[in-house]
Amino acid sequence: MELTRIQNLSLSYISSFALRCACDLDISGHVQAYGHPMPLNELARSIPIPPEKDLMLGRLMTLLVHQGVFGQSEAGYVLTPLSELILTDGSNLGAYVRAVTEVDFMKGWDRLSEVFKDTGKSTLFEKVFGGIQFWEIVKEKPEYGKLFNEAMASTSKSLMNGLVASYPHIFDGLNSLVDIGGGTGTTIKIIAEAFPTIRCTLFDLPHVVANAIRSDSFDVVGGDMFEKIPPADAIFLKNILHDWCDEDCVRILKKCKEAIESTRNGGKVIVCDIIVDLDNNDPKAIETGLLVDISMMSIYGAKERNKQEWHDIILGAGYSDYKIYPARLGAYCVIELYP
Ligand SMILES: C[S@@+](CC[C@H](N)C(=O)[O-])C[C@H]1O[C@@H](n2cnc3c(N)ncnc32)[C@H](O)[C@@H]1O
Repeated sequence: MELTRIQNLSLSYISSFALRCACDLDISGHVQAYGHPMPLNELARSIPIPPEKDLMLGRLMTLLVHQGVFGQSEAGYVLTPLSELILTDGSNLGAYVRAVTEVDFMKGWDRLSEVFKDTGKSTLFEKVFGGIQFWEIVKEKPEYGKLFNEAMASTSKSLMNGLVASYPHIFDGLNSLVDIGGGTGTTIKIIAEAFPTIRCTLFDLPHVVANAIRSDSFDVVGGDMFEKIPPADAIFLKNILHDWCDEDCVRILKKCKEAIESTRNGGKVIVCDIIVDLDNNDPKAIETGLLVDISMMSIYGAKERNKQEWHDIILGAGYSDYKIYPARLGAYCVIELYP
């Protein structure tokens, strides 16, 4: 019934916060530690919560079971593939859940319509935060910066293992690779460990790489991708271009082109991002792309691009050709750019 759909769409923020509550109470961790189906009262004592709150916890669990986050047998609650992903010793996607539901960060979404009516170019984020841009907030609020980096690292763990398994040939023949805007190094570590003959480098802003994972398997360089990018056979850009407007993407891609052209092999740029109109038989993945697009618009004044928009920025930056691989990573796909 249409009423039901409108009700569920309007109330979907409750799903976000129920999931966040499960992360904050580490319900997955308690169920995992129990080792077999966990009855409600055992879960309640393990968290622990006062006994008079047990029924409330049961109601939260009823929603989360209905949504497939947890399973339930007669004996109690069990983990599902979704709750496994929020285990802190696993992918730790709980960091992503927390970062996107951070109350400060969610401020002002009820004013989205104002952005459409304004004649100015401010994003919703800038409007709400008095003209300050997202990357400045991340730099100035180290505790949010840390959560943001953990969130990106957690999505990288899920995505990169799939990417390395689904598209291994994109790394064939490479001697060196730089991950631009690679955060604290989760992505480059997975590439370096999967392809130990490639000399790998993590590149991000100096204050971000200051907190990067240290490992013998890759080098770490701090810098600004709008200034200079270290030379390599391949430049890897995951979740980067969707943060920037077309003009900035062209500037970044030109810097990447200079970096790959300065090596002997001529090289390529590997982009892992969303293409909103790419064939995808998973409607949920299409919806993810569209939701992230509105988020990019509101936070950075940027976007998830369609095929034509990708074509325009790639050719606009002077590349001669590119190849889009079929979507095999949920909402994400891989594009190779050739100089
Ligand atoms: C959306 S995050 C993506 C992180 C990582 N690539 C991933 O997929 O998990 C964007 C990254 O770009 C970095 N960044 C932003 N501006 C940058 C700049 N001017 N130069 C280098 N890195 C930058 C941020 O610090 C952040 O780590």
